[in-house]
Amino acid sequence: MNSRLLNYHLYCFASIFGILLYIIYSHLKTSNYNDILFSYRQCLQKIYDKNHEPNSYILEYRQCVVENIDTNFEKFRMGRLNEDKVFLPMKSTFIQQKCIWLTVGIGGDDKVEELFKKKYPACQIFGIEAESSQYANFDKYGTIIPYGVGVKNETTELILRTKTNYKQTKVEVLALPYLLDKFVQARQIHYMTIDIEGFEFGILEALLPQNKLYKENIVFCQVIAFV
Ligand SMILES: *[C@@H]1O[C@H](CO)[C@@H](O)[C@H](O)[C@H]1NC(C)=O
Repeated sequence: MNSRLLNYHLYCFASIFGILLYIIYSHLKTSNYNDILFSYRQCLQKIYDKNHEPNSYILEYRQCVVENIDTNFEKFRMGRLNEDKVFLPMKSTFIQQKCIWLTVGIGGDDKVEELFKKKYPACQIFGIEAESSQYANFDKYGTIIPYGVGVKNETTELILRTKTNYKQTKVEVLALPYLLDKFVQARQIHYMTIDIEGFEFGILEALLPQNKLYKENIVFCQVIAFV
């Protein structure tokens, strides 16, 4: 199957897994977002338990958001596709120095990180990107981690965005736990945006309860998965 088509199929699943990751929020007991999210999670649980057409899932999911999350979302607009990356705002009492943003797949665009850094100058930003032509000016805002990332260490063929198109290349992929320990020195990440040409699926799946990365105590509070 061609990779863009595969991405298309994975799109709904990636989105759904991104949403499921909110459940992992319960790990962060310090946050009173827990109160806000309690009824939201109950609402989501109801719709998870049903069989769904992707379209009705999205509608019901939106309904849960509108009815249960009484806050304005923050939006950071990326340059390349003119899409917003949408997150719950940081609590005003949260110590900004502790906050970590991780971009998985820089993909030649640093606009979101520029906006985020402007709003939260004390947050630390990291970007994982195996293809050096795709760094843009990311190093103005954060630290570049020049590898592929996966659930385990391996050398594998990845599809990388290049200056002009996409190419399939052998890439050294490092296991996420190792990569976080070595470069980020934390396993709790507050914001993640991930776009790695279909390979996000394996990582998102491994973050779900009882799966490999979950068992490694890796927690992403908020995830945006784009394809
Ligand atoms: C992955 O590779 C790194 C560096 O080569 C190594 O230190 C680490 O132990 C490996 N991790 C796993 C899970 O194999």
